[in-house]
Amino acid sequence: MVGQAGGDATGVAVVTGASSGIGAVYADRLAARGHDLLLVARRADRLRQLAQELSDRHGVQVQTATADLAEPESLARVEALVRESNAVLLVNNAGAGGLGPTAAISADRVENVVRLNITALSRLSHAVLEGFRSRGAGTLVNIGSIIALSPSPSAAAYSGSKAYVLNFTRSLQAEYADTAIRIQLVQPGPIRTEFFTAAGVSESVFPEDSYLTAEQLVDAALAGLDAGELVTTPTVAETGIWEALEAARLAFMEAARSGQVAERYRVGEESLA
Ligand SMILES: NC(=O)c1ccc[n+]([C@@H]2O[C@H](COP(=O)([O-])OP(=O)(O)OC[C@H]3O[C@@H](n4cnc5c(N)ncnc54)[C@H](OP(=O)(O)O)[C@@H]3O)[C@@H](O)[C@H]2O)c1
Repeated sequence: MVGQAGGDATGVAVVTGASSGIGAVYADRLAARGHDLLLVARRADRLRQLAQELSDRHGVQVQTATADLAEPESLARVEALVRESNAVLLVNNAGAGGLGPTAAISADRVENVVRLNITALSRLSHAVLEGFRSRGAGTLVNIGSIIALSPSPSAAAYSGSKAYVLNFTRSLQAEYADTAIRIQLVQPGPIRTEFFTAAGVSESVFPEDSYLTAEQLVDAALAGLDAGELVTTPTVAETGIWEALEAARLAFMEAARSGQVAERYRVGEESLA
């Protein structure tokens, strides 16, 4: 059985950030599942070459859109293309790190991370969900990161942006829980791609043996999608860890809605009594 993604096969799948790394592997795997493709990134030459390879190898139609998704006008153009394409699947994968101590990187780089990782992902999710609602089906895959759970020096905007992806995607899942629309959050750990050099740092920030290849990540993420997972973190062997995090989150929310000021903050009350 082809599974979740295959349920929509033969329709158009959109992959952002398809010119390298994780996005290029998604493009290949989705073409192998029979999807025609709309591939988006800034590097036209890379997209053209990949489009030719995939249509030769898999016999699918591949359209490319050269666009800087951090630029509002280009993003609006891609939103329109996504609507016109009647896409059945979107992989919101394009992302940037803007890594380095916040004082050492420009405000423009910080804003670029927000525009690409947050604004573009949100607007494209919105665009594709419109079509999914009218057809009653579709698959949205948002690429987050394990750093969503780890506030990190030298990755303040990046970590914050991926925390947004986590909460945005989990909230959408709750909104669409009773429909046939499938929404998956994928949380990669370190993956050997161009990401770190594009972000201006060396790959050696993590131990050598902590990296997966983009192929390992995407094949595992698609297995998670096929299994109906809402959140897929391919490197975590013990699923109980995520369940414990969820339980702690729910306990925190319950405690935070107590309607009472906690004892340790009632500093003025003794002297009033
Ligand atoms: N690698 C990791 O360790 C890791 C870990 C966790 C999460 N992730 C996430 O995985 C996703 C893919 O990253 P990757 O590792 O595959 O890195 P990558 O090889 O650098 O790929 C990033 C892709 O995004 C595209 N992109 C970057 N800026 C863009 C812009 N302004 N407009 C349009 N496209 C843009 C790039 O293409 P162009 O340069 O041609 O535009 C490229 O295709 C990202 O969301 C990243 O945050 C990666």
